[in-house]
Amino acid sequence: MAVIPVKLAGRSYQVLVDSALIANAHTHAQPFLRKSRVPVVADANARQHWGDALAASLAKSGHEIEWFDVASGEGSKSWDNLIKLTEWMLSLGVERGDHVIALGGGVVGDLTGFACSILKRGCGFIQIPTTLLAQVDSSVGGKTAINTDTGKNLIGAFHQPSLVLADIDTLSTLPKREMLAGYAEVIKYGILGDLAFFDWCEANGTKVTGGDNAAIQEAVARSVEAKARIVAEDERETTGVRALLNLGHTFGHALEAETGFSERLLHGEAVALGMVLAARYSVRRGLLPSQDADRIAAAIGSSGLRTEISQLGLTCGGTRLADHMRHDKKMDAGTLPFILLRSIGAAFLDHEVSLDDVGAFLDEQLRA
Ligand code: GLY
Repeated sequence: MAVIPVKLAGRSYQVLVDSALIANAHTHAQPFLRKSRVPVVADANARQHWGDALAASLAKSGHEIEWFDVASGEGSKSWDNLIKLTEWMLSLGVERGDHVIALGGGVVGDLTGFACSILKRGCGFIQIPTTLLAQVDSSVGGKTAINTDTGKNLIGAFHQPSLVLADIDTLSTLPKREMLAGYAEVIKYGILGDLAFFDWCEANGTKVTGGDNAAIQEAVARSVEAKARIVAEDERETTGVRALLNLGHTFGHALEAETGFSERLLHGEAVALGMVLAARYSVRRGLLPSQDADRIAAAIGSSGLRTEISQLGLTCGGTRLADHMRHDKKMDAGTLPFILLRSIGAAFLDHEVSLDDVGAFLDEQLRA
C-alpha cells in the first residue's frame, strides 16, 4: 500500500493507494466515524459497483450507511443538488466533528466537499474516488465546487478531506474512455515537473490504460505524490506553484466550452489536447525544442487519446476558441496566465501571452 501524506499546517491527511481499500474501509475510516449512521454520497455507477462492498465493510465496525444518490454527470454539481444535499445532512443531524463519505468520481467529490465546507461552517469528509481522474487529481488537494449557468466550478471553497482512499480495484469497472481521460492527468505530472515520470509513462502508459494493476498502482501513487508536494507548497494557488497543475487546462477549457461541456469531449480528453497545444505554442514562442513537443504528442497519442484539434470536427475558428478563454476563471486584470514549457518536466507560468496570437495559432492547428 502507498501511504502518501498531504502536509498542511493543522490539516494534514493521508491518501492511501491500494487494492481492497473499500473492502477494508472499516479499518481506515473508523477513527473518523463518531456515530453509527454514516452519510455516504454516491453516484449511480459507484453505488451499483461498490455500494454493497462499502456497506459490508462498514458493518464490520458497527456502522450503517445512509445513502444520498447523485445522478452521474456534471449536471449534478448544481445549486439544486447543493441545497438538497445540505438539507439532507442537516436532517441527519450531521455535526462539525462528523464525516460524510463521497463515493464516486470528481462530480460527487466536488459536490460533497463543497457541501461539507459550508455545513455549520465546515464538517469533515472522506473521499473514496472511483475514477482514475478523481484518484490522481480531484480527490486530493481540497478544491471543491459546483457549476452555475455562467461556468464550471465558479462557486466553491478550499476544504481538505480528512482521508482519501484510492482503491485501484474500482478502476476495473471504469469504461476504457474514462480510463484514458484520467490517464491524461497522470502524464500531466510528468510533463509539468518530472521528466523521469514522463519517461516511465512513455514505457508503461499502455499498461496503465490496459488495466495492469501494478502499473496502475505506481501511476496513481506517483501522481498523488506529485500533487501532494504541490498542494503542500501552495495550498490556495497563490504563489504560482499549484497553478502549474492547470497545464493544458486553458486550451482544454476552450475546447470543452466549444463542445458544450458534453460527452463529445471529456475533461481529460480536452486536457490531453490542451497539453499538446501548450507544448506546440511553447515551440511557436521559441521556448521549447520542437522535438519535445513531438515527444509529448507521441506519448499522449500512443495511449489512444486524440492529439489534433482538427480531429474534433469543430466548425469555429481560432478566434472563437480564444474568446472562450476570455471567460476563463483564471483571467486576472485583463490577462490570462498560461502554463507553458521550457522542456519536458519544466513548466512555468507565463503572464505575457496575447490571446490574439493564441487565436492565430489555433487557426493553424484547426487547419493542420
Ligand atoms: N486540479 C487542479 C488543482 O487541484 O489545483
